Amino acid sequence: MENKKDIYHPVKENFEKAVISSMDEYHALYAESIENNEAFWDKQAKQMLRWQHDFEEVSNCDLEEGMISWFLGGKLNACENCVDRHARNNGDKIALIWEADEPGQEKRISYKELLREVSRLANVLRHHGIRKGDRVALYMPMIPEAVYAMLACARIGAVHSVVFAGFSAEALRDRINNAKCKAVITANEGVRGKRVIPLKRIVDEAVMACPSIQHVFVAERTANKVPFYEPRDVWLNRAMEAERPYCPIEHMDSEDTLFLLYTSGSTGQPKGLAHTTAGYLLFAALTQKYVFDIQPDDVYACVADIGWVTGHTYVVYGPLLNGGTTVIFESVPGYPDAGRYWEMVERLKISQFYTAPTAIRAIQREGDAYVKKYDRSSLRVLGTVGEPINPDTWRWYHDVVGEGRCSIVDTWWQTETGGILISPLPAATPTKPGSATLPFFGIEPVLLSPEGQEVHGNGVSGLLAIKKPWPGMARTIQGDHQRFLTTYLTDYKGYYLTGDGAMRDNDGYYWLTGRVDDVMNVSGHRIGSAEIEGALVSHPYCAEAAVVGFPHDIKGEGIFAYVIMHEDEDSGTDLVGELRNEVRRRIGPIATPDRIIIAPGLPKTRSGKIMRRILRKIAANQTDDMGDISTLADPGIVEKLIELRNAK
Ligand code: WTA
Repeated sequence: MENKKDIYHPVKENFEKAVISSMDEYHALYAESIENNEAFWDKQAKQMLRWQHDFEEVSNCDLEEGMISWFLGGKLNACENCVDRHARNNGDKIALIWEADEPGQEKRISYKELLREVSRLANVLRHHGIRKGDRVALYMPMIPEAVYAMLACARIGAVHSVVFAGFSAEALRDRINNAKCKAVITANEGVRGKRVIPLKRIVDEAVMACPSIQHVFVAERTANKVPFYEPRDVWLNRAMEAERPYCPIEHMDSEDTLFLLYTSGSTGQPKGLAHTTAGYLLFAALTQKYVFDIQPDDVYACVADIGWVTGHTYVVYGPLLNGGTTVIFESVPGYPDAGRYWEMVERLKISQFYTAPTAIRAIQREGDAYVKKYDRSSLRVLGTVGEPINPDTWRWYHDVVGEGRCSIVDTWWQTETGGILISPLPAATPTKPGSATLPFFGIEPVLLSPEGQEVHGNGVSGLLAIKKPWPGMARTIQGDHQRFLTTYLTDYKGYYLTGDGAMRDNDGYYWLTGRVDDVMNVSGHRIGSAEIEGALVSHPYCAEAAVVGFPHDIKGEGIFAYVIMHEDEDSGTDLVGELRNEVRRRIGPIATPDRIIIAPGLPKTRSGKIMRRILRKIAANQTDDMGDISTLADPGIVEKLIELRNAK
């Protein structure tokens, strides 16, 4: 995997005034952050955040007990930290650039304007009975109102729960009910690559079975009419116009929940991870500043959707906490053509660009001309996240997009971690294609053997775990703290278990090797096998289903489903098509299997456990070495499945 020549050093002329400009600086600050952990976080918290009331204790954590709390006794407000303080000091600075679906229709919103809009929206919520501690679901396209809504919730102490607007009505309904949301904020329609998405209709369908919902606030993204049910439904923009642009801020405790965000696990329904105010904000602010080397005149663009954690931390909170200018990207990488990102980089003069390997692969395939056509001289840092990046794509990003001049930051982290844990620092760290390199300040990664022993030294592999708590980590799972403990903390006591495997090379660099559980990374989106299996078996013809990931050129991982039908199946219908639709309806298009095989049986042990290892090999067409199949109840099934796989 490693080739000594394959090391890329930051191009110094690109980083004349970087926040960290050498490995000596990195090592010194890293050592301080680990050896004097509390003092480090104490100082950073005082420097990076504005407090209404100072905290009294830096941290009180016991990972074994699932007790995680930071900056105890402190009071602050996330919205004030993101907006008010910059509106006061530098109000005309551009906070948001909304990059609309149609290129060239961008809108710039200053910090002063942001404060007014957020305050108006916060007043709308207050006047409809939303109070501190209430939960509000967001099902929004990438429009400025989505950011206003997140910040407005934070301003009045309501907890936002953003649900990706590509999820189905059923998935939205389950998330709303799990968190008992009092309201939903949505838009009449969304627009992506000219395609119109009927968001309000989907919300209407979802909330029919959501008893806690009192109001649906609807932003107007398009001029099209949608069904509207007053007094439940409220036109958001009109209601905002009726409100004054001032709204007092709620004083929140450091450990008050800032947001819930649902993500897939290896079993069961998606879990609502809870992030709290002070620790999350500090970690977002600090990682943003160091990993993206934020400078005063930068225009920073993370093209993730706010429905994912990357959109929370690195579209909204991280950049705004740093008083930066952040781009809200509404469109898709291929619209109007594969040059969209770079045309946007030229037009908006973007300095840091952050996306997922799946998007880079998709445009890499369309050829270099789409990139070279545009001026990319404003770029300094190119980020990637969500899945391992293959070295070939890494080099293309570096050599072609970045003209060999920009630093690649391959950032490893998770919904649960709140922010980046392993990543290069762009002006300091020598990089290797495919490696996320070294830990961020305050983060102590370890590799564990399956028995839970730390694997020391370099040139070793294991389960990636984190030894010390850090301020940005999730605190619990909404409504199920026990699940939080058993998923992350109790299998290997004293560690946070990530669910990823990793290798530490001879230079101490980390290489992420993928999930060790039944979670898939499909086009950078995290999806659990169990969720898709649940959707498949909800079809009346389907008796059993097993879903695994397989290597996919563009998506990184594709979805492969083996299904067993009931005996009385009606073979006259397009079963595979129906099953696909079932998954789209229950979860959303992102979870649609790439391949569905109607199987005569599944490889099971005599005790009835499905051997997924075998299903993965068959799906990946790596059937030369199936390993030991003698423990299967019916070893003959393996041949039958291989035949079916190769049938077309
Ligand atoms: C994977 C996204 C390799 C990993 C921020 C992790 C990565 C999961 C990387 C979390 C990376 C994320 N290299 N793998 N740079 N970044 N992953 O919760 O498997 O949507 O556990 O958070 O994505 O996905 P999530």
